[in-house]
Amino acid sequence: MSQIIISPSILSADFANLERDIKLVEEAGADWLHIDVMDGHFVPNITIGVPVVKSIKKVTKLPLDVHLMIENPEKYIEAFAHAGADILTFHYEAVKDVPAIVDLIKSFGIKAGMSIKPKTSPDDVLNFLNILDLLLVMTVEPGFGGQSFMEDCAEKIPVIKRHAPENLIIQVDGGINAQTAKICTKYGANSLVAGNYIYKSDDIKNAVQSLR
Ligand code: DX5
Ligand code: ZN
Repeated sequence: MSQIIISPSILSADFANLERDIKLVEEAGADWLHIDVMDGHFVPNITIGVPVVKSIKKVTKLPLDVHLMIENPEKYIEAFAHAGADILTFHYEAVKDVPAIVDLIKSFGIKAGMSIKPKTSPDDVLNFLNILDLLLVMTVEPGFGGQSFMEDCAEKIPVIKRHAPENLIIQVDGGINAQTAKICTKYGANSLVAGNYIYKSDDIKNAVQSLR
């Protein structure tokens, strides 16, 4: 198994002390920083937007892994790319023309990711795997941190892996902890997002390391 990319989700951080909480995961050995953008339409929650991503960029060297849970993501790609996103992941369910948005993201010289919700079949996205840098398999319904991991979602990973080019990053997000991380990496995931497990832990360094 190649290297696992750990991407702590700042959704579970203290927003009044965001810089401090970003440094904590940076020092703990995180690889990326996962930023959840929600619009109150695609998901029933509102989180953070472009100005916050821009501010985060100034205080960390970690690549910014921006997860767009928004409708019409194509309208905001340029703004998030200029704000400093290194990976931009949109939802398959939110777009009509997948290749067009992938091209748009790549035109800014950054990685293009696509995410699927729990009820979306892996078969729907197999045709797009060779144009993507990352495929995010949601293991909870997107919208909130702290939910329970759904193993049947992770069962999609082997199907995806069978059809994916060698270098596709397969990421999981939702209910990831040391136990569920093991399940996901066994299925073939090589990037793990975790919010609550890391930020609600008494020992953040140990929590990050325990995911590897
Ligand atoms: C949920 C978000 C996740 C969330 C994960 O919609 O996409 O990134 O922060 O939180 P945990 O790890 O607590 O399930
Ligand atoms: Zn996320």
